[in-house]
Amino acid sequence: MKGVHFPVTAAALSVLAFTTLLASASDPDPLQDFCVAINNTDFAVFVNGKFCKDPNLASANDFFSDKLRYSGNTSNPVGSIVTAANVDVIPGLNTLGISFARVDFAPNGLNPPHTHPRATEIFIVLEGSLYVGFVTSNINGDGNRLFTKVLNKGDVFVFPIGLIHFQLNVGKTNALALAAFGSQNPGVITIANAVFGSKPPINPDVLTKAFQLDNNVVDYLQKQFWYNNS
Ligand code: GLV
Ligand code: MN
Repeated sequence: MKGVHFPVTAAALSVLAFTTLLASASDPDPLQDFCVAINNTDFAVFVNGKFCKDPNLASANDFFSDKLRYSGNTSNPVGSIVTAANVDVIPGLNTLGISFARVDFAPNGLNPPHTHPRATEIFIVLEGSLYVGFVTSNINGDGNRLFTKVLNKGDVFVFPIGLIHFQLNVGKTNALALAAFGSQNPGVITIANAVFGSKPPINPDVLTKAFQLDNNVVDYLQKQFWYNNS
């Protein structure tokens, strides 16, 4: 009879392992209605990621921001700017696993290749036309696949968690997009900035080999100012 139970137990363990994998794919589920983040611990009652404000002291403003009403200033080296509405802006997002950003683009503006270590992003174009894309991880035998699309007003595109992606304004006017994330704090790694602008700098021997570049090209790149648009 023991042998009869084994497959059932194995199946149950597989389901459990699969569920655990799914559960750790985004921010943890909230353990209460909300948990307004607070810095002054005199008024803190729980700890769950950040300190939480006593729910009796929470107000509508803890769940509100008007920050995305305003166009960002795109007069910068990449011609785009990301304005985040994450838990640092809306403390009521704490533990809820979502956030927003608005992205403004000048004509030819680029949101440079970057990744979000903690979130998938869903992106909608509100104005203009954008050439967008992402690259897959190192798929065996198939290299890194590029998925691209030109998006117009109202179009939606998804950038899966952790994958390098970008958006370029290919229209003649300014463009505007809204990005939603499956994390209260998705994080951003802008690839060029992280690789060539780290502090302290990465040993040039690493970069010459990794990027198959001459020493003086690496030296030149490491001396550039790497603007952070987010
Ligand atoms: C767009 O990709 C963004 O992260 O704002
Ligand atoms: Mn992004």
